[in-house]
Order: sequence, then structure tokens, then C-alpha cells
Amino acid sequence: MTHQLSSTPLLSRQVIRSRVKTLARQIRQHYGEEDVLWVGLMNGAFIFLADLARQFPQPIELAFLRAASYGKKARSSGQVELDGLEKLDLVGRKVLLIDDILDTGRTMSYVSAALLEAGASDVQSCVLLDKEARREVPFQASFKGFVIEDLFVVGYGLDYAEKYRNLPEVWTVKELA
Ligand code: IMP
Ligand code: MG
Repeated sequence: MTHQLSSTPLLSRQVIRSRVKTLARQIRQHYGEEDVLWVGLMNGAFIFLADLARQFPQPIELAFLRAASYGKKARSSGQVELDGLEKLDLVGRKVLLIDDILDTGRTMSYVSAALLEAGASDVQSCVLLDKEARREVPFQASFKGFVIEDLFVVGYGLDYAEKYRNLPEVWTVKELA
């Protein structure tokens, strides 16, 4: 399908940068000097996580998991496939789970439960964007950058058909008939 990006970004680089700094401050205040494993979801979280992590002077331990959900187009089936969990030793660890966006909530709620099941002692979550109105399963992020309307967005890690993740800003996408 043909599509078009908005003529101006929804979130500019400056707006994102300043919010990421605030989030980093909140996360630092929450954890203090505690030992925390950061777990990012590939691919969407890669830029957000990179910028957020570089706000911290201490040596952060981080890992990535790949999460894919099915049935998104018609109706979300709630099935999430998670890759990489078996390689992590999570027993007794405090985890900060990071993703680009909370939409139906299925991915974050599934992955949080899986991390706890694998032995994590605590799981907090951090997302850049939250489409609150789209939630299908109850999930609240512990730390969130921006609440946005029900719009499809790209850039800063987010894709449309695997493209546009590289854009430094967040843009909205309109599909053209
Ligand atoms: P959820 O499981 O429905 O909360 O979906 C979360 C996942 O859907 C995110 O990790 C994104 O990969 C994807 N997603 C949801 N909304 C958007 C969007 O507006 N742009 C790009 N990806 C999105
Ligand atoms: Mg994603």
C-alpha cells in the first residue's frame, strides 16, 4: 500500500532528547545503585535504549530479546513469540524491560510474565511511546516517554514494513488508498 509521512515530525529530536533525559533521571531515582539488567526488545527499542543507556555513567548490563506478535492486522491473537530468553540467567535479577511503544499491551505483558517466570525477582518497564487508547490487555509502563493518540508512527526505532527505523524524529504515517 502507498503511504505518506507527515509533513512535520510528531516528536522532534530536541523534544525526544529532553524527555529521554528526564526518563533517565526517573529511572536513576527509582533504582539508585541497585544492580539492574536492562532487557531491550529488538528491533524497535534499539535507538531508544542506546540513547537512554548513554545517560547513565555507571556500567549498565544489557541484553536484547526478540519479540514478535501475530495476528496484528486483523485482530491481535495475543500470541507473542519470544526469542533469546533461554540465554539469559534471570534468577533473582531485577529487570528493566524496554520497548519502543505500548499499543495493545500484549507484547509487554507477555514478556514481563515470561521474565518473572524465568526467575527475575522484579520487572519494571520503560517505553518511549504509549498509545493508551489502544490497550487490549491491562498494562501500565513504569516509565513512559509520551502518551500519543491512535496514530501509526515511525522513526527513532519504529518501522513501517521494516523501514524508517533510522529516522531521528518520530513521524506519523498515513496510508493512501
Ligand atoms: P502491542 O503488543 O500491541 O502492545 O504492540 C507493541 C509492538 O507493536 C511494538 O513493539 C511495535 O513493534 C508495534 N507497534 C505498535 N504500534 C506501532 C506504531 O505506531 N508504529 C510502529 N510499530 C508499532
Ligand atoms: Mg516492536
